[in-house]
Amino acid sequence: MGTAFATVFVLVFLISLCKSDDQLTPAKPLHPGDMLISDGGVFALGFFSPTKSNATLYVGIWYHKIPNRTVVWVANRDNPITAPSSAMLFISNSSDLVLSESGGHTLWEARNNITTGGSGATVVLLNSGNLVLRSPNHTILWQSFDHLTDTILPGMKLLLKYNGQVAQRIVSWKGPDDPSTGNFSLSGDPNSDFQVLVWNGTSPYWRSGAWNGALVSAMFQSNTSSVTYQTIINKGNEIYMMYSVSDDSPSMRLMLDYTGTIKMLIWNSNLFAWSVLFSNPSYTCERYASCGPFGYCDAAEAFPTCKCLDGFKPDGLSISRGCVRKEQMKCSYGDSFLTLPGMKTPDKFLYIRNRSLDECMEECRHNCSCTAYAYANLSTASMMGDTSRCLVWMGELLDLAKVTGGGENLYLRLPSPTAVKKETDVVKIVLPVVASLLILTCICLVWICKSRGKQRSKEIQNKIMVQYLSASNELGAEDVDFPFIGFEEVVIATNNFSSYNMLGKGGFGKVYKGILEGGKEVAVKRLSKGSGQGIEEFRNEVVLIARLQHRNLVKLVGCCIHEDEKLLIYEYLPNKSLDAFLFDATRKTVLDWPNRFKIIKGVARGLLYLHQDSRLTIIHRDLKAGNILLDAEMSPKISDFGMARIFGGNQQQANTTRVVGTYGYMSPEYAMEGVFSVKSDIYSFGILLLEIISGFRISSPHLIMGFPNLIAYSWSLWKDGNARDLVDSSVVESCPLHEVLRCIHIALLCIQDHPDDRPLMSSVVFMLENNTAPLPQPKQPIFFVHKKRATEYARENMENSVNGVSITALEGR
Ligand SMILES: *[C@@H]1O[C@H](CO)[C@@H](O)[C@H](O)[C@H]1NC(C)=O
Ligand SMILES: *[C@@H]1O[C@H](CO)[C@@H](O)[C@H](O)[C@H]1NC(C)=O
Ligand SMILES: *[C@@H]1O[C@H](CO)[C@@H](O)[C@H](O)[C@H]1NC(C)=O
Ligand SMILES: *[C@@H]1O[C@H](CO)[C@@H](O)[C@H](O)[C@H]1NC(C)=O
Ligand SMILES: *[C@@H]1O[C@H](CO)[C@@H](O)[C@H](O)[C@H]1NC(C)=O
Ligand SMILES: *[C@@H]1O[C@H](CO)[C@@H](O)[C@H](O)[C@H]1NC(C)=O
Ligand SMILES: *[C@@H]1O[C@H](CO)[C@@H](O)[C@H](O)[C@H]1NC(C)=O
Ligand SMILES: *[C@@H]1O[C@H](CO)[C@@H](O)[C@H](O)[C@H]1NC(C)=O
Ligand SMILES: *[C@@H]1O[C@H](CO)[C@@H](O)[C@H](O)[C@H]1NC(C)=O
Ligand SMILES: *[C@@H]1O[C@H](CO)[C@@H](O)[C@H](O)[C@H]1NC(C)=O
Ligand SMILES: *[C@@H]1O[C@H](CO)[C@@H](O)[C@H](O)[C@H]1NC(C)=O
Ligand SMILES: *[C@@H]1O[C@H](CO)[C@@H](O)[C@H](O)[C@H]1NC(C)=O
Repeated sequence: MGTAFATVFVLVFLISLCKSDDQLTPAKPLHPGDMLISDGGVFALGFFSPTKSNATLYVGIWYHKIPNRTVVWVANRDNPITAPSSAMLFISNSSDLVLSESGGHTLWEARNNITTGGSGATVVLLNSGNLVLRSPNHTILWQSFDHLTDTILPGMKLLLKYNGQVAQRIVSWKGPDDPSTGNFSLSGDPNSDFQVLVWNGTSPYWRSGAWNGALVSAMFQSNTSSVTYQTIINKGNEIYMMYSVSDDSPSMRLMLDYTGTIKMLIWNSNLFAWSVLFSNPSYTCERYASCGPFGYCDAAEAFPTCKCLDGFKPDGLSISRGCVRKEQMKCSYGDSFLTLPGMKTPDKFLYIRNRSLDECMEECRHNCSCTAYAYANLSTASMMGDTSRCLVWMGELLDLAKVTGGGENLYLRLPSPTAVKKETDVVKIVLPVVASLLILTCICLVWICKSRGKQRSKEIQNKIMVQYLSASNELGAEDVDFPFIGFEEVVIATNNFSSYNMLGKGGFGKVYKGILEGGKEVAVKRLSKGSGQGIEEFRNEVVLIARLQHRNLVKLVGCCIHEDEKLLIYEYLPNKSLDAFLFDATRKTVLDWPNRFKIIKGVARGLLYLHQDSRLTIIHRDLKAGNILLDAEMSPKISDFGMARIFGGNQQQANTTRVVGTYGYMSPEYAMEGVFSVKSDIYSFGILLLEIISGFRISSPHLIMGFPNLIAYSWSLWKDGNARDLVDSSVVESCPLHEVLRCIHIALLCIQDHPDDRPLMSSVVFMLENNTAPLPQPKQPIFFVHKKRATEYARENMENSVNGVSITALEGR
């Protein structure tokens, strides 16, 4: 019986294999084995069995191109097909989409939402994964995006609240191979508009924490350039959540798995697997209220554990029952509030409308049962014109956490300082008596203070940093997940900035090698006080680099501000910069052609990310060999974003009064007129390309083979069809000629005089990766000619500085 059934099944499967279309019409129902494939081939709809035994059959949607079938939607999750031979998905006479099996028994139905019915409806599977039932005039009658199962796809809306009521939820599968309705679900919080909850049945299992106005949060994947956004949209009567991805290439999904864990996943086509961008809860103590009242889960630790809030101690011997006050609270108007930064706010808050921060504090101070408050400005999502979000807590605080990103200040009520004052009075009276005792105590305290003070000063420093960074609202610095490193820690790490630790000097200051506690190697950039880098640039660099993550961008590990000191702490790259190899007679042999080509492509991808793929358009403005760092595998990482300029929206170019950059890499329009755009970076990239190919410096003070500079030399060889002579003699052996000629050709396209003639970075990447794409003919560039005339606005790269060499007069040939 089983085999007979299997044979029938396989037969059906084979016969209908060629039937793949993106539409279902009344005349053409879908049987097991048939599939609808969306127009671009991203998604498929068909019959599937989650188990190997084929005992149960479901209709679902999965990724067509992903080998491991990943189901994102199931139609009949609680009504599996048991008689596959008679199963059929079809459009009924009344224009409903119906799944039935033997004898017309209906297993599942999608009813169109137009009462009159009508005929000629079709079903189409869209490339977004949305299955749409539509009328002949393309009016949507039903869509799967309104009927969620356990997955949210980009473009799908999860309606959290509608007219104050929980509207939609996603519900987990019951087991890994069982799509039926499971125990866990995710929905908006019925008691507030500010958070989402994961439920185990009807009890909370995980909670997001109240959102704080940063309603769009970006998440990054470091391996690829894709950025994922989570957005909460509040339209008054409806509040919904959506996800989107910066580029449409990766397949991304948010799903609630059968164990109750929310996971954001991205398909990694290199590893052929789904990579987890984040998952919640990832630790036991992140589960709802698992640390008890007044306890919090310290998720900022490597191994999150429960702790008590300041002023609280474990209730009983173990913390599992929560925490209680060390000192009983006597309610008084003089009570102060302790600021706890980086917190996920507790549950069960009261939302008080239309309050300023101070009024919010007063609200809490005035009521003796109030234990804490938190405040945010919902500038991006006002609640009916009111942008304030004042939350207060009465009584116990439940389900708190200290988090590394996305947390906010929680203001915790502390006993009035009058109690403390009394103590000091007492001390004064008995001072003579216990003076000697105090001295002894002091000696002991020194030990304790030393260790605690470190932490305290770090906390204060962090607070200053956060305030400092928040000033640049344009960048939304508040939600940067960013580690601040204490100054003392840096001093220890760099051996008090010992000259032995110095790695080099740059235009903005010195760079030191450091070893942080725990042995992590870092490069510390100490910005010189008198450097050209102002506070503004520093802020730009910190915020930008903290947000940008790409395998071809150097990673910022942390930063530190201490009095006049501004320090940036980067990952340490053992191989230093590209110029240290390229222009060194002995070391350049390490860079064979495959390595150089890899570096070229890596820099191109990094620059593409800066220009187009990150959320902001960033122009580097100082791209050069000295700013390309190499890691142990000789993969390039672009560094030094200090001069990056941010463009909003459609602003394509800008004027600047202060020209920064490095001689030779600056495009004519930038050097001469101060006009910069992404095309100025393209120019620098072209120059860099010529340097990598030829091994000559653009800023070489000497004539190159009798030519005034590298550009003139390259053009001349190219024009005469001798471009191969440009190739560095130390790599000429290892290089396929067509590849290197293509690179020279691309370089010449990039250094054309008119910005409009230069290709965009996306074209450059395409031209580099696809060696059959046709290339346009480059126009002859005007050559810069060295004139020893120093102008104050040229900042020479200090490492390869040539005295007095500078901006130039433009001379045609
Ligand atoms: C289940 O169906 C698939 C085709 O969908 C087939 O390849 C497989 O052999 C079947 N397994 C059993 C146990 O019948
Ligand atoms: C496919 O999925 C199965 C079960 O989920 C897993 O065991 C297997 O490793 C996956 N294969 C690939 C190539 O990811
Ligand atoms: C649908 O309509 C056709 C004729 O228009 C009729 O033959 C058929 O029985 C109807 N089917 C159902 C299920 O009502
Ligand atoms: C489209 O057709 C539906 C019925 O199929 C009808 O209710 C609707 O008014 C039509 N819309 C337009 C714009 O013609
Ligand atoms: C039917 O559902 C679609 C999709 O949700 C919606 O856009 C449309 O407004 C609905 N039409 C009616 C008449 O409710
Ligand atoms: C789902 O809930 C039932 C009881 O309500 C319980 O027995 C079962 O273990 C739960 N499953 C999971 C995965 O938690
Ligand atoms: C979910 O709740 C059920 C009881 O309602 C319980 O048996 C189960 O262990 C819970 N699951 C988890 C993962 O906590
Ligand atoms: C990034 O790449 C590394 C190795 O190349 C891999 O182990 C890791 O899982 C990847 N991470 C993501 C999020 O794809
Ligand atoms: C908010 O409060 C101010 C006074 O504090 C009042 O003038 C204003 O009308 C209030 N706005 C709303 C929307 O309630
Ligand atoms: C304090 O707040 C609670 C809860 O809102 C309320 O019941 C109580 O009346 C308030 N007390 C005072 C003195 O305002
Ligand atoms: C830049 O400045 C020049 C002259 O000062 C002016 O003609 C040009 O319009 C400006 N461009 C922009 C984008 O502001
Ligand atoms: C390479 O470019 C050619 C011409 O533009 C195009 O036909 C081809 O599909 C491209 N190949 C790839 C792999 O993108």
